[in-house]
Amino acid sequence: MEKKVQTAAVILAAGSGKRMGTDVPKQFLSLCGEPALTWTLRAFEESSVQQSVLVVSSDEAEDFCRREIIEKHGFQKVCAFVRGGAERYDSVWNGLTALSDVMDPSSGYVLIHDGARCLVTADIIERTLADAKRHGAAVASVPVKDTIKRVDADGFSAETLERKTLRQMQTPQTFSYDLIKEAYRLMIEEHPQPDVTDDAEVLQRMCDRPSFLSEGSYENLKITTPEDLLLAEAILKKRGY
Ligand code: C5P
Repeated sequence: MEKKVQTAAVILAAGSGKRMGTDVPKQFLSLCGEPALTWTLRAFEESSVQQSVLVVSSDEAEDFCRREIIEKHGFQKVCAFVRGGAERYDSVWNGLTALSDVMDPSSGYVLIHDGARCLVTADIIERTLADAKRHGAAVASVPVKDTIKRVDADGFSAETLERKTLRQMQTPQTFSYDLIKEAYRLMIEEHPQPDVTDDAEVLQRMCDRPSFLSEGSYENLKITTPEDLLLAEAILKKRGY
């Protein structure tokens, strides 16, 4: 029997990028001359994570990733391509199930990562992995910089949240594989249209388990709106690219 892997990543690249307002999905927009996803995959290549499953939306996207990213740079760790679903959580579920055959079920760890969060570093990856090994679940995060208010239906401020208790969630969100797979399985079976945008929330809701909040980085931004591209290029240039 083939040896099972202890660490694998599910890298999500099946979104359409509605908020960016471009035809090209945000994870494929050019940053310092390369598709953003190239920078994401490079960080995982430089980390100790053994394999990755890449979640994409179509055959064309898969071909593009193979040709223009993986073969071009000689990346070694993408072991499978999976089709995404309508929502982020559908894509995560497809990625998690695709890992069933390769992942060690009792001692494996999975890192769920947004492909559009392309400035992630091997350091952040290793930190969430080490914290997940200690706590079962660990999410990269940073303290919020701005004051956050809840808004009412008429557009007025309804409540000011206590800033020092707030953290902004990033990815990787890293978990014991069997734990997060069970949480997602329960959610997919029991809730037809769950309103979740992050994996730690799935674990909290379905298994009543909190996640440790690991130290992320303000540089670990997700390409979402046009100004993120300017910032991301500036950060890559600072890193010498
Ligand atoms: O839209 P959002 O910013 O939450 O997307 C985060 C990441 O999830 C992106 O890298 C995007 O490509 C991916 N995604 C996905 N499948 C979806 C929606 C988003 O793989 N249905």
